[in-house]
Amino acid sequence: MTLDEKIAQLIQLAVPFFEGASDAGLITGPMASLGIGEDTVRGAGSVLGMAGAQETINVQRKHLEHNRLGIPLLMMADIVHGFKTIFPVPLAIGCSWDLALAERSAEIAAKEASVSGVHVTYAPMVDLVRDPRWGRVMESTGEDPYLNALFARAFVRGFQGDDLSGDLDRVAACVKHFAAYGAAEAGRDYNTVDLSARQLREFYLPAYKAALDEGCEMVMTSFNTVDGVPATGNVPLMRKLLREEWGFDGVLISDWGAVKELIAHGIAEDEREAALKAMKAGVDIEMMTSCYAKHLSELIEAGEVDIALIDEAVMRILQLKDKLGLFENPYRAADPEREKEIVFSDAHRAAALELARKSCVLLKNDGVLPLSPALKVAVVGPFARSGDLLGPWSWTGSQDAVVRVSEAIRAKASTPGAVTVAEGCGIETESTEAQLLELEAAAQGADVIVLALGEHSDMSGEAGCRADIRLPEAQLALIRRIKTFGKPVVAVLFNGRPLDLNGVLDKADAVLEAWFPGSEGGTAVADLLYGDANPSGRLTMSFPYSVGQVPVYYNAFNTGRPQGAPDAQVRYVSQYLDIPNEPLLPFGYGLGYAAFEYGEAALSADVMTPDAPIRLTVRVANVGQVAGVETVQLYVRDIAGEVVRPVKELKGFRQVELQPGESAEVAFELSESQLRYYHPDLTHASDAGAFLAMVGPNSRDVASLPFKLVK
Ligand code: IFM
Repeated sequence: MTLDEKIAQLIQLAVPFFEGASDAGLITGPMASLGIGEDTVRGAGSVLGMAGAQETINVQRKHLEHNRLGIPLLMMADIVHGFKTIFPVPLAIGCSWDLALAERSAEIAAKEASVSGVHVTYAPMVDLVRDPRWGRVMESTGEDPYLNALFARAFVRGFQGDDLSGDLDRVAACVKHFAAYGAAEAGRDYNTVDLSARQLREFYLPAYKAALDEGCEMVMTSFNTVDGVPATGNVPLMRKLLREEWGFDGVLISDWGAVKELIAHGIAEDEREAALKAMKAGVDIEMMTSCYAKHLSELIEAGEVDIALIDEAVMRILQLKDKLGLFENPYRAADPEREKEIVFSDAHRAAALELARKSCVLLKNDGVLPLSPALKVAVVGPFARSGDLLGPWSWTGSQDAVVRVSEAIRAKASTPGAVTVAEGCGIETESTEAQLLELEAAAQGADVIVLALGEHSDMSGEAGCRADIRLPEAQLALIRRIKTFGKPVVAVLFNGRPLDLNGVLDKADAVLEAWFPGSEGGTAVADLLYGDANPSGRLTMSFPYSVGQVPVYYNAFNTGRPQGAPDAQVRYVSQYLDIPNEPLLPFGYGLGYAAFEYGEAALSADVMTPDAPIRLTVRVANVGQVAGVETVQLYVRDIAGEVVRPVKELKGFRQVELQPGESAEVAFELSESQLRYYHPDLTHASDAGAFLAMVGPNSRDVASLPFKLVK
């Protein structure tokens, strides 16, 4: 390969650059002119944002006609929560606590994407999230490092399977955004991240590491700084930690434009220096800027970049192409005929329905739910007839194919004509006269009002940050107006972040958090409202009391002056004067139609040693009238560490399905390795001493049992 041919392999371009493409594909960043020549485009190693079997075949064919060495393009795209069959957004999937279904969703996404010509997905996104102002919290599974790591593994297994070379229904995964993108200050996208090394290792890194331990093929850099240096030019992060310490030898790709952004960040004076810093950090592929194309050869000539670095990067890219079998068959699984059979198949939609049912979280129920089919229902609100239930990153999905809430409710009612529908207001626009008339007419004869509210999908996702995380005022006004009708109100929420629910939770008689539930969202919601499915989702991100509390998360540290301590004063304690310290709804919280009672929890011993784990057992009984799934959660607190320890850390969970009157003993094993944490010298070890084991239905309502670790 000539040097130019090698450098071209390191370039990734969006669809509009390629001959044979009939549309622009997905554009997910700024489209400035790159100033590169035809030869670079013809030699480019990969394309992003393209899908569709015929489309990808056309582009690959054209590319190979011009490429001297016949090196096929890698086709990469954001297949985040489904391809054509859209699953709930990842934050919702997290709330299912169902790892097997999460894996299945990724497997289906991979199968649909692969037959449509995609080779690599930029997923899973495993950034730990604590600030609901950040629009991208919907792409993460939440605020807990242990749970996020389990989901990271499940998604990677689902995308890649265990034989990426032999199984053409799988795609390579690219874990992102390395590292700590979720900690952007003030919840503003692309903003500074500044964490201690211990915070980084303890909370933010475990999920990326878990994805890599599962064999994830690629890593994407994050846009943010890590310890003062943007990740894309960060040698300690990429060379030392990712490559040397963790042994990652797969392909590292920049995020869109992130190499050139080293200039705006202020660590490179120009594109030449940006190319130098990214290459030194070990970034193999530059996505959608042209610093490498324009400057790598002069950097090599000047002796500033060792050709060995380029060779390594090219080799990693070629190895991935080889692993995917592209040298034997550059079209891989792309097949227009099979594509028609596979994508959006009934079986895939059924899996999406199952996961959507399990992802919704019932936040409140004063007894109005489940609804009886005999009731006359008014379905009201901007989401009543909306197809905007797919959420961000569902570019290949079709809103036209989405089951609407009003349709699904109509299908449940014994007299479909008794279901009336009205928008009431827009998502962000106040009620018009016509909407109010329609609303009055719809509500008049109704026994119950189902209010379908939320954020439209552009209000979250990348660059979808909000400083005010309430529902838009038009919808809060709609709730107030509807309350004057004096009928029971069930609010169903479609949104991509934990919201400030003041004005909703206090007004509605029941609230179902549906997130963006995907293609089958309407049916899932109706199934849950009518009790054909029992809500079992549990929050994986705290819902703040108000935006002034954020970031608020369950696994926080205590302070020296905790509120509510036995010797706490009225003043001079860590508290707000105007709101509680606790979130409105805690991590792990969710209701259902069954009623679970916890018996007394017990430990097998009150002393643990490194060789002798202990067992915690608790009997859980369903004392309700219907079958249900309970997520029993185990937390631990280290009472006194070498550094301060979180007030609670999730260490395990079990999902048990119980019939009415049935009970089960739930057991957890707890061992010394689960008590380790990062010490000031960054060793990962446990400390002998006192601990609490806690068990319960959520992170707030737990029974505590003391034990000691003796070493
Ligand atoms: O994968 C995404 C990333 O998450 C954000 N910037 C654009 C990339 C490619 O679309």
